Amino acid sequence: AGLNAAGKAAGLEYFGSATDNPELSDSDYMAILNNSDQFGQITPGNSMKWDTIEASRGTFSFTKGDAIADLAEANGQKLRCHNLVWHNQLPSWVSSGGFDNATLVEILQNHITKEVTHYKGRCYHWDVVNEALDDDGNYRDDVFYNTIGEAYIPIAFAAAAAADPSAKLYYNDYSIEWSSTKHTNAVNIVKLIQSYGVKIDGVGMQAHFTVGQTVTQDALESAIQDFADLGVEVAITELDIRTKTPASDDTLQQQSTDYQTVVNACLAKDACIGITIWDYTDKYSWVPKTFSGYGAALPWDDNLETKPAYDGILSAL
Ligand code: XIL
Repeated sequence: AGLNAAGKAAGLEYFGSATDNPELSDSDYMAILNNSDQFGQITPGNSMKWDTIEASRGTFSFTKGDAIADLAEANGQKLRCHNLVWHNQLPSWVSSGGFDNATLVEILQNHITKEVTHYKGRCYHWDVVNEALDDDGNYRDDVFYNTIGEAYIPIAFAAAAAADPSAKLYYNDYSIEWSSTKHTNAVNIVKLIQSYGVKIDGVGMQAHFTVGQTVTQDALESAIQDFADLGVEVAITELDIRTKTPASDDTLQQQSTDYQTVVNACLAKDACIGITIWDYTDKYSWVPKTFSGYGAALPWDDNLETKPAYDGILSAL
């Protein structure tokens, strides 16, 4: 069995992977991605973000996002749609600001309504707001917060809920996987949305970790429980565990152990419903491009061969 088949047998709704449009022409890569025994869910790495969808005001381009949605449908895989509101990959016509509160609310609502309506019925989950908190756990100093205040978050969720009542709506962030100020403030975001009488279904823990510094199972379980206590589910949405490259055999063994820790914590908590790795192969990982000197973060290597992490995940599932 592959990861999704094993994950479902262990009680998950899915085990999935991110993917991206340029990769769709790599037939060796696609042979593994398309296998729903391995992956029961996919996430577009980039093509549903604001800069792709609405690069200029009022002009919407869904072609690249559609390609990933069509792929999920052809493969019988669930689709996590990612994302509607984020400070990054935000076109400058939005990020440079200059809009007053009412105008930016209208821009936000229009973007969400158009995009969610376009994909209505196709998104199992929507990451509605991504990374609203900075590394210290405070509200990020971005155009949405600075212009609208924290109310932009419930406003965004309300617009998404109205456009597709059947999609599960998520808040997604990193460094909320253990007890910290940022974790507490992510809990407070869920409470904020609920206090407006607006629907939130889940919290996505990105889980971009480093070998040897991965969260402990106890800490992750208790972080998941804090969200479960508010009546929302949790998904591990962007899991990868990077290391300095080149990676030694010992490091790859530790990486396997670290992946198992994450899987074990998710399986131990009913509220944790699925796990997504942020692409499945080192060949297409975002890590080397983003964290200089780091890489080798995924269960398949550059040659699409499985690593110890793969066997570790499979044995934990
Ligand atoms: C990353 C993509 O993988 C890269 O291709 C892109 O250059 C930058 O964004 N958190 C998120 C994801 O929520 O959208 C990011 O994806 C990784 C960090």
